[in-house]
Amino acid sequence: MEHGSVLIPGDGIGPEVTAAACRIIDAALLGSGSSIDWIECHAGVTALERGHTDLLPQETIDAIQKVGVALKGPCTTPIGGGFSSVNVALRKTLDLYGAVRPVRSIDGVKTRYEDVDLVVIRENTEGLYAGLENEITPGVVTSLKVATEKASYRIARFAFEYARSRGRRKITVFHKANILKKSDGLFIRCSQEVHEAEFKDIEYEELIIDAACMRLVQDPSRFDMLLCENLYGDVVSDLCAGFVGGLGVTPGANFGEINAVFEAVHGSAPDIAGQGIANPLAITMSGVMMLNHISVRSDDPAAKIAAERIKVAYNTAVREGDRTGDLGGDLGTEAFADALIRRLD
Ligand code: NAI
Repeated sequence: MEHGSVLIPGDGIGPEVTAAACRIIDAALLGSGSSIDWIECHAGVTALERGHTDLLPQETIDAIQKVGVALKGPCTTPIGGGFSSVNVALRKTLDLYGAVRPVRSIDGVKTRYEDVDLVVIRENTEGLYAGLENEITPGVVTSLKVATEKASYRIARFAFEYARSRGRRKITVFHKANILKKSDGLFIRCSQEVHEAEFKDIEYEELIIDAACMRLVQDPSRFDMLLCENLYGDVVSDLCAGFVGGLGVTPGANFGEINAVFEAVHGSAPDIAGQGIANPLAITMSGVMMLNHISVRSDDPAAKIAAERIKVAYNTAVREGDRTGDLGGDLGTEAFADALIRRLD
């Protein structure tokens, strides 16, 4: 079976890590009878450099809408110049309302924490990232935080359904409804209602985000799944990435009703771009999520088997000491991909 997937190399380290991830995915599918037809499209500064007038060209959006799936490298949003974030625009345009960011300890990656196994679910379309900022008068600006019942019910249901389908036990909502009584108040009310009405089998709790962050760093094992509005989810997922070895090992996915875009949590890392030293593991893990999604969507067991093979291979590679610099190793991006491919069995 051939599956189409839009490949957006992105900016900075994006082209390096996505090339490595595609090589790994293709190798894992080789001989299975299934394959990915990578449809390369552009976004970010790369899109401008290639003659597009927009950071997020319409043809990239059209291509994703056509096949429903994309693997995306990180995109730089130029500061100033009136450009709005590619990522925010992509999530809004395709209505990719549910971000899933699994955070799991990897054997052999030494961190302060052991056996971390969390999933952060982030509402992707509103909150302060609705982009409603105003300069009232020079020196005075406002940013409007948007919370709607529609989006809050939808993300709560998404989180509980995800929990149930993966056998997860508990959802904790991070909020600041003691101060933001209306917006965060609405978010937790909708979460409560969805829990009460449909998901009583899953444990539910609410924590004020400041205290929640303290508890999170004290003992991540007391948490299972975190449900956050947009900004909190953005911040908390990077915090959680720190538990397991950083941004180089934290994958992500953005789901809508129809389309899904898989991308690492990290950015374009301009400080190490072009050096061939970036860790391709996070985007490869996002590729594993993509294969699992394709497998369910297209009822193709080969995609699921390939996803499992990649997981086993990267766990073995890292445990046996094949690592990039961010994990204390000395392999470059391509050498790490080679080491992983050698371990595909
Ligand atoms: P960043 O994630 O690019 O980098 C933070 C630090 O982590 C840097 O020291 C970087 O070298 C390191 N790092 C990140 N990914 C790594 C990897 N795969 N391997 C090894 N080290 C890695 O975050 P920063 O610096 O805040 O953002 C840089 C640019 O990326 C900005 O333009 C930002 O807007 C964009 N960005 C894009 C995202 C996306 O497209 N999804 C997400 C986050 C930021």
